Amino acid sequence: MTKRQVAPPLLLVTVTLTTFGLAKWHPFSPAAAPAASVAGDPLRGRQVFVVNCSGCHGMDARGGIGPSLRGVGLEPAEVEQIVASGRGVMPAGVVEGQEAADVAAYVAGISQ
Ligand code: HEC
Repeated sequence: MTKRQVAPPLLLVTVTLTTFGLAKWHPFSPAAAPAASVAGDPLRGRQVFVVNCSGCHGMDARGGIGPSLRGVGLEPAEVEQIVASGRGVMPAGVVEGQEAADVAAYVAGISQ
């Protein structure tokens, strides 16, 4: 066996690994950073909102007793903070934990 017979399979393996490796490598993916810090699921958050928040903010968050949350430009962390500590007439801790993270993801999404 000579080196010439070994080289092509090795080359194929190297090229394959490099191709798949690069395909999986998303150094500038915009989803990477928020996904790490926020575990909220906006789809579940919508349910949480309808049950716990819509009474004041309206079914589609366009306002009622509480202000409209559309177009106010809040980040998930800001919404979670407001939900945790309350604001004005809005009571603190309406929802907590995973529900708070989910509803924050939903509200942040519609507030952009
Ligand atoms: C009892 C009524 C009531 C409930 C229930 C309620 N809110 Fe509020 N919310 C308010 C009021 C009133 C304000 C305005 C407070 C102020 O600025 O004085 C407010 C403000 C906010 C703000 C800040 C808006 C801004 O432009 O800065 C966010 C975000 C918010 N609420 C999210 C939620 C979420 C999410 C829920 C459900 C988990 C919720 N609220 C439940 C009444 C309520």
